[in-house]
Amino acid sequence: MNKPDNQIIVIFGGRGDLAMRKIIPALYALHLQGLMPERYAVLATGRSQLGDEAYRSEVVKATGVQKTEYNSEGLRQFTSSFHYTALDPSVSDDYRMLTVALDRLRRDSDIPANTLFYLSLPPELYDDITGNLANCGLNSESDGWKRMIIEKPFGYDYESAVKLNRILLGHWNENQLYRIDHYLGKETVQNILVTRFSNGIFEPLWNRNYVHHVEITSSESLGVEKRGSYYEGTGALRDMVQNHLLHLAGFIAMEPPSSMDSTSIRNELVKVFESLRSIKPEDIGKVAIRGQYTGAHVRGEWLNGYREEEDVDQASMTETYAALKFYIDNWRWGGVPFYIRTGKRLPTRVTEAVIHFKPTPHYLFSEKGGCDGCNQLIIRIQPDEGILLKFGMKIPGAGFNVKNVNMDFHYSDLAADRIPDAYERLLYDCMNGDSTLYTRSDAVLAAWRFLDPVLQAWKNDPSVPVFGYPAGTWGPETADDLIEEPELTWRYPCKNLADDGIYCEL
Ligand code: BG6
Repeated sequence: MNKPDNQIIVIFGGRGDLAMRKIIPALYALHLQGLMPERYAVLATGRSQLGDEAYRSEVVKATGVQKTEYNSEGLRQFTSSFHYTALDPSVSDDYRMLTVALDRLRRDSDIPANTLFYLSLPPELYDDITGNLANCGLNSESDGWKRMIIEKPFGYDYESAVKLNRILLGHWNENQLYRIDHYLGKETVQNILVTRFSNGIFEPLWNRNYVHHVEITSSESLGVEKRGSYYEGTGALRDMVQNHLLHLAGFIAMEPPSSMDSTSIRNELVKVFESLRSIKPEDIGKVAIRGQYTGAHVRGEWLNGYREEEDVDQASMTETYAALKFYIDNWRWGGVPFYIRTGKRLPTRVTEAVIHFKPTPHYLFSEKGGCDGCNQLIIRIQPDEGILLKFGMKIPGAGFNVKNVNMDFHYSDLAADRIPDAYERLLYDCMNGDSTLYTRSDAVLAAWRFLDPVLQAWKNDPSVPVFGYPAGTWGPETADDLIEEPELTWRYPCKNLADDGIYCEL
């Protein structure tokens, strides 16, 4: 694999939760694999005053390496690349200090002006940061490339996303911006493209002639934990659907790109988003369901309801569950319903897409029930990553009795040791200037445009119910009504890919 150009990585919010939990461990993993640049430095910024050495101790903790291993040469080399400078994002003088610190680092470590800025701070600060960096000339590529990674949320709705884009594009070019959606960094999400486009067997079936419906689930067993105040202003639709799950649907639905380059892939994704059928205000009750978890005993433990969580309003209407039915109006998918659901405090943590193929036109065998759940291809994103095909087989013996059987592939069989974390892949790509797995502004806007009617109705129309669902269950029962045909239901996935049903191991 390529070694990225020599560069400096500047982390805004260098002492924050994301830096400690994701960014630094990912950089360390890249370092251990020899995938960091030959020469690089990391300059972390934060409001507090702190020396380099004190910051390096925090870096060691973030890597999760035990003290006894601290002396190892590799770790010392890694941590010695870290530097810290205090910076208040809204104070323009602080950016002059940043420029001085960057110049010094470049000189001392013989690194060119290539710089990656990672904005691991709330979007309210982007205006100040991008403007101040530009005022110091730190967006100019005359002496080396400049890239900027931005964390979600990319806006709150369509209008705010347009505004945010205007702010970002005021001083930076689109090709300098890397909007992170960590789902695209997941190996198994990328594997959807390989499954579809490296095998001839799926393509002929991958369309309205053979697919009955597509189901995408992303469930979490955890509640909102300590993120009540963030979540109150967000909700499941913005937190998971606008970004992660629509992207998953996009990878399932897109046309083959002309090549695997960033522009071709991102063009195809945008085409899917632009083909999403607009949801009419009068249909919202029929195609979108919101829910909120209520307190319940789960496996012997009492779990609070959402309204009892820290920093959550006792009369909150924020959804912790969202389910949606929608259509993609193009030649491949015309008339095929897509169902998406996501929620917190559901029975287990699972993300998967299920392609439900159409049944045979005329069923020949006696017991049709024997093949319930046949004709499904399940693409498991996490956990027990893999692919499962479910189809009918003859039960040995007299007659023609049919049983639904599994053929499963577990992704762990391919990976010698571990599946890399999404942030590793995404950071590595950005260091190399590959934006394929980052979200482009037109995709962000198209996704918001699609969801805006639902967001508006949920915000402004008090007659749209927020259905309660007890913690540890699969969400509001009303969500079953989204799937119109009475004999069809959502799949009830379990921890293990090959199991399903409501009584399996969670
Ligand atoms: C984040 C959301 O983007 O994704 C969280 O803000 C959610 O609320 C998380 O828990 C889920 O990510 P993963 O990788 O655990 O599926």
